[in-house]
Amino acid sequence: MGGVLFSEPMGHAGAGATHASAGTLKMFNETRGGARSPFTMPKMNHSRRSFLRVLGAAGAGAPILARAERLEAALPPRPDHLGFEAASPASVRRLRDSYFLSPDLIYLNHASIGTVPRPVHEAHAGYLELCETHPSLYVWGGVWREVTEDTRAAAARLLNCRSDDLAITHNTTEGFSILAQGLDLDSGDEVLFSSLNHAGAAVAWDELAPRRGFTVRRFDFPLERAPDLTVDEVVALHVDAIRPETRVLIIPHIDNMIGMTHPIREIALAARDRGVEFVFVDGAQSAGMISVDLSVAGVDAYAMSGHKWLQSPKGLGLFWASERLQAVVPRMWFKTGGDRVDMTARKYEDYSTRAWPAVVAFGDALAFQASIGAQEKERRYRALWTLVHGRTTADARLHWGSPVDPALRSVIMAVGVRGRTAPELGPMLLERHGAVLRAFGGRLNTLRISPNQMTEDQELERFLDVLTSNSS
Ligand SMILES: Cc1ncc(COP(=O)(O)O)c(C=O)c1O
Repeated sequence: MGGVLFSEPMGHAGAGATHASAGTLKMFNETRGGARSPFTMPKMNHSRRSFLRVLGAAGAGAPILARAERLEAALPPRPDHLGFEAASPASVRRLRDSYFLSPDLIYLNHASIGTVPRPVHEAHAGYLELCETHPSLYVWGGVWREVTEDTRAAAARLLNCRSDDLAITHNTTEGFSILAQGLDLDSGDEVLFSSLNHAGAAVAWDELAPRRGFTVRRFDFPLERAPDLTVDEVVALHVDAIRPETRVLIIPHIDNMIGMTHPIREIALAARDRGVEFVFVDGAQSAGMISVDLSVAGVDAYAMSGHKWLQSPKGLGLFWASERLQAVVPRMWFKTGGDRVDMTARKYEDYSTRAWPAVVAFGDALAFQASIGAQEKERRYRALWTLVHGRTTADARLHWGSPVDPALRSVIMAVGVRGRTAPELGPMLLERHGAVLRAFGGRLNTLRISPNQMTEDQELERFLDVLTSNSS
């Protein structure tokens, strides 16, 4: 469960993977400069074309169908297999070229907000245009419901869960708002999380606790021990914090400060042994970066934001709830109308007017990430971690603040510069060197480096050179 990314021996993952030809990569590269998209074979895209079928069935007239068909034909085909090779700098370069990201930046802030690949953006723009040809039909006519079910199925494959238990929401914060508003907590009940928990997974509980009478408790995570921690120790830290009144435990799958991959299955099992009724996981930083398998996680809910590691259009997320939880947590949005959905986790996304073009483009984002290949992605992230960790620990001017245990680490890395404060360094690095990252002050006092699979080694090397030259 999770952690697969870093716990496999180096050089093992990806063995036996098939790669597309050099021709494929050339086509991929040719996406630049506004040319129509890239990828492999010009493949009929069944999922996207389903909305034409729905249009036909809905009795849309011939001119509308013809226009929709023309616009759809201009959309980039969803990629199948990009032929990305993690070990090839040329391949990483080509991947980098399929983004709009400014060449003037060293963008190491993917954990805050990712960037949409060109083909996903082009598809999104196409859906927007289509939508505006006949807004009432496209927004109210149910035209994009079927393709949204295909997207839900793709997301379910990514998280290894049932489609019926998955809602396409706006972001992680919304998932936790659904939970905090819907769960029947009372005085005497406690919600517990560590100081690594993000505000997005905490704020709804904090706000509602005084009104409803339950309590929220944060235990202090020993940041300074992070590089030496083992899985058993991380589990023990959580279990030791549990009290008889703890009814809910919230765990970030990967936290946003030191990038620790929490052993969620082990923590959930141990927490249940201690009488915790619900375990909720903040997946904002995990889906799209590491393998997630909700079928064996033993947790009750998982919420994430697509705009980070899935590089979807902004304002899209996923919320997974176990069947048991769906039975006790009602819908958060109120809505009238004959098409109201009250069954399955779909009820959590059943708000009224919806930004359908973005929702449909979420399917393109999932397809793009899948086409990179999970194994090559993992291999690339291991290589990036090795580069940053190796240089940081070899240089007395820098210090390392993230977990090192392969089962606990991720590609979110905390690096400090001796003699300098991180909040002072952050803005200077942006202004003088175009480096975009987050700085954490206080006890941590580290810069958070969060590259993506398309970040080139040379960008990171350049950034680390800058860091060492700014030590004092
Ligand atoms: C771990 C974690 N949880 C939750 C959030 C909140 O995400 P959103 O604002 O998309 O709801 C973030 C955002 O950075 C995060 O890193």
